[in-house]
Amino acid sequence: MLRILILAAGKGKRMKSNIPKVLHKLLNKPMISWVVNTAKKLNPESIAVVLGHKAEEVRRILDEDINVFIQSELLGTGHAVMCAKDFLKFDGDVLILYGDVPNVKVETLKEMIEKHRMENNSMTILTTFLSNPRGYGRIVRNDSGKIISIIEETDADEEIKKIKEVNSGICVFKASDLINSLKYLKNDNKQGEYYLTDIVKIFLDSGKNVGTFLTEDPNEILGINDRMQLSKVERLLRLRVNEEHMLNGVTIVDPESTFIDPEVVIEMDTIIQPSTIIYGNTKIGRGCEIGPFTIIKDCTIENNVKIVQSNCEGAWIFSNTSIGPFARLRPKTTIKENVKIGNFVEVKNSIIEQDVKAGHLSYIGDSEVGEGTNIGAGTITCNYDGFMKHKTKIGKRVFIGSNSALVAPVMVGEGAIIGAGSVITEDVPNDSLGLGRARQVNKKGWAKRWREKKEKEVQGLKPKNKDA
Ligand code: UD1
Ligand code: CA
Repeated sequence: MLRILILAAGKGKRMKSNIPKVLHKLLNKPMISWVVNTAKKLNPESIAVVLGHKAEEVRRILDEDINVFIQSELLGTGHAVMCAKDFLKFDGDVLILYGDVPNVKVETLKEMIEKHRMENNSMTILTTFLSNPRGYGRIVRNDSGKIISIIEETDADEEIKKIKEVNSGICVFKASDLINSLKYLKNDNKQGEYYLTDIVKIFLDSGKNVGTFLTEDPNEILGINDRMQLSKVERLLRLRVNEEHMLNGVTIVDPESTFIDPEVVIEMDTIIQPSTIIYGNTKIGRGCEIGPFTIIKDCTIENNVKIVQSNCEGAWIFSNTSIGPFARLRPKTTIKENVKIGNFVEVKNSIIEQDVKAGHLSYIGDSEVGEGTNIGAGTITCNYDGFMKHKTKIGKRVFIGSNSALVAPVMVGEGAIIGAGSVITEDVPNDSLGLGRARQVNKKGWAKRWREKKEKEVQGLKPKNKDA
C-alpha cells in the first residue's frame, strides 16, 4: 500500500512574491498541481499535503480528495512530517515529495519504490550527482559505499562539501518505521530545524536498512526557489510535453518557442509552427497546421485546419477551414467545414456554416451565417445598442457587399445581395437586393471647374514681384 505526502509549507522567500511559492504557475498550472498530478499517476491509496504559509490560498486550488495538514510554525522538513502524523498510521509505504520539485518523473519514482520494497528498506532516498552541489544535503557513504548519513550544507565541513552526490529530498519510508522514529528527531543543528534527513542515522543505529536510488538526470530534482529557477523548470517541463507530442507524430518546428499545456491533445501529422501557445481544454485533429505566432485556448479543432498568426479562444473549428492571418475567434464560435476566415476578422458567439468566406476586416458577433455566404470586406454586425446584444441572421448563399453595417436585430434572407456600403436596419427578403445607402450623383465637369477656381485663388495670394 502506498500513501504520498507532499511537503509544501515553505514560504518561498526568494520568490519575492505575495503569492505562495507553490501557486506560481508552470505552463498555466500551479507548481503544486504538477506534483499532485505526478503523485496521482502512482495510484496511491491517498495523498496529503502539508501547508503552512497562506495555507488557505493553496488549499482552494487542491482537489477535495487531497488531505491537508497544517504546519503553523516552519520548523523543518522533519517537523512538517510530524504535523501529518495521523496520515502515517497505516501498514505500507509513504512517499515524500516536495511541492517545489515538480519535474520528477513518474517512472523514476516507480523504480525507486520498487527498489525500496525489493531491498526491504525502512527508507530509500532519491539521489543524484551535481557538478555544483551547493545548497543541497550531501550523501555521506562509508568505505564500502553504504550510506551512513545526510549532512546539510550549513552543517558541512570542507570535506563533506566536496561530495557531489546530493539528497533530492524525495524519499520513501516504511510508514510504521517512520512514525516510530519521528520522536527521536532533534533540532541541534545550525538552522535549529528538525531535519527529516536525520532519520537516516536513527534508522541505521537501530539496525534498519536505508537505501538510495540514483537518477542520472539532475534536472528531475531541480527545486524552485526563485524566479530564475521557475523559468528554468518551466522550460524543462515544456520541452518534455513537446517531446511527447513529437513522439506521437506531431511536428513541432521549434520546441523552444512552443508552449503547449500537458492536457492538450494533438493528433498525427499536425504541424505546430514557431511562437505558438496552445493551452486550456484544447483538442487538435490530424493534418492541421497551427502557427506561427498563434494563441489557442479552449478550442476544438478538427482535421486539416490551418491557423496562421491568430488568436482563438473557446471556438469549435470544423475540418478544412482556414483561419488568419490576424484573425480573432472569441468564445462560443462555431466554424463549420471549408470556411475561410481571413485577416482582421473577429468572430464571437456565432455559427458560421460551411463554405462561408469572410476574408477581410469584419466583425461578426451574435450571428448565424448560412452555408456558402460571402461576407464582404469591412462588414460589421452591429450587435450592441449600448444596452443589449442583438442577433443577426444571414441565410444561405448571401452576398454581403463590402463595408456594410448590419444593424441587429436583423435578418438577411437566403440568396439575397446587399449593396456595398449599406447600412441595413430592416430584414431583407430571400433573393432580394438590399440597399441602404445614399444614391450616387455625378456632376459633369465639376471637378475641373473647381480646380481652376482654386488655382486662381492661390495665384492671387502669391507676392507680385518675387525679388521684392
Ligand atoms: C532539503 C533537504 C536537503 C535536500 C534539499 C533538496 C532537509 C533537512 N534538507 O533542504 O537535504 O538536499 O531539500 O531540495 O530535509 N518544508 C515544509 N516545512 C518546513 C520546511 C520545509 O513544509 O518547515 C517544505 C518546503 O515547502 C519544501 C520542502 O519542504 O517544499 C523542502 O524545504 P526546503 O527548506 O527548501 O529544504 P532545504 O533546506 O532546501
Ligand atoms: Ca531550509
